[in-house]
Amino acid sequence: MAKMHTLLTLSVRSAAEFLNKQEIIAFPTETVYGLAGRIDSEKALNKIFQAKGRPADNPLIVHIYCFEQLSGLAENLNPNALKLIENFWPGPLTLILEGTKQISPLINAGLGTIAVRQPKHQMALELIEEVGIPLAAPSANLSGKPSGTLAKHILEDFDGLIPCILDGGATIHGLESTVVNCQKPEEINILRLGSIPFEALQEVIPNIKINNNNKSASPGLKYKHYAPRAQVQLINCPKEINSFFECAYIGFEPAHQNIQKQKIINSNELYAAVLFAFFRECDEMGFKTIFCQMPQPSGLGLTLIDRLLKASSH
Ligand code: TXA
Ligand code: MG
Repeated sequence: MAKMHTLLTLSVRSAAEFLNKQEIIAFPTETVYGLAGRIDSEKALNKIFQAKGRPADNPLIVHIYCFEQLSGLAENLNPNALKLIENFWPGPLTLILEGTKQISPLINAGLGTIAVRQPKHQMALELIEEVGIPLAAPSANLSGKPSGTLAKHILEDFDGLIPCILDGGATIHGLESTVVNCQKPEEINILRLGSIPFEALQEVIPNIKINNNNKSASPGLKYKHYAPRAQVQLINCPKEINSFFECAYIGFEPAHQNIQKQKIINSNELYAAVLFAFFRECDEMGFKTIFCQMPQPSGLGLTLIDRLLKASSH
C-alpha cells in the first residue's frame, strides 16, 4: 500500500469526512480502538482487511449510534435478543443476529448473520451519527497483535497506512466487547468473553452458555490473537518466577525486586484496562518474557484468563 500522511485529530467532523470519501479511519470506543469504514463502501471494507492483514473469512462488527439503525441490518429479533439490547446497549455487548439480505459478504463473510453493537462512547456515537451510516469496524490492530487502547498504539500499527486517527485518549475497558450469539432464542451463547462479565449476562438470560471454542460459529476464534512479541508466561503466584533477566511482570502481588518492569494492579477492571498497553510497552522495551498472574475465574477474571491464555499460546 502507498504510504500516506496519518492525521491525529480530535475532530469528529474531520474523521467523518475521510469516511465519506471511502477511506478508513481509527476511532475510539469504550472497549478498544476500531478501524472503521462505511458499511455501504466496498472500497473501504476491502481496505480494512488489507490494512489489518485480516483473513477474508473473519467477519466484521457493525457499529450503530441508535436502535433505529438496526432495522437495515438485522431481522426477526427474538425476545432474548431484545432483553439483552435493553439491558446492555449502549455498551460493550456485540450481538450476532439474523442479517438482512442487504448485508455485504465483505461484512459477514457470507454467513447470513450480522454482528452489531452500539458503543458507549460519546465520540464514537457522534462519529456514526455524523456519517449517518453504520460503520463496520474490527479492532484497530494488525491481525494477531494486541488490540490498541491508545491512539499511540494505532500509530504503531498503521502510521502511513490510514489517513486519520480520531484520538479519544485511553479506552475505558481495555478489552473487547462480549460477543453473544442470539440467533436462536432458546440457545443464547457467548462466542467471545469480553468487557461485560458472564455473570451480568446470566442475570438477564439465566440459561446463557459460554461457547467460546466454537470456531465455526465465530470464525475469529480460530486465529491467533492478542499476542505480544515477548513470550507470555502465566503464573498463579509471583514466587513461581525463577528467572529475572529481560523479564516483566503484571499481577496483584508485588514480585521480586530484580524484575525491572512490574505493574501491580488491585482489581480485574484495572488489569483489563492496562493489559494490552502493558504488552505493547514490554515489546517496545525489548523484554523477552512477560509473567502474568492469573486472576480468579469469575467476573472479568474469566475474560482476562481467556485473553491471557490466547496471548501465551504461541
Ligand atoms: O470491542 C469490540 O468488539 C471491538 C470494537 C472496535 O468494537 N471490535 C472487535 O472486533 O473486537 P474484531 O473484529 O476484532 O472481533 C470481532 C469478533 C471476531 O472474533 C469475529 O469472528 C466475530 O466477532 N464475528 C463478527 N461477525 C460475526 C458473525 N456474523 N458471526 C460470528 N462471529 C462474528
Ligand atoms: Mg480483534
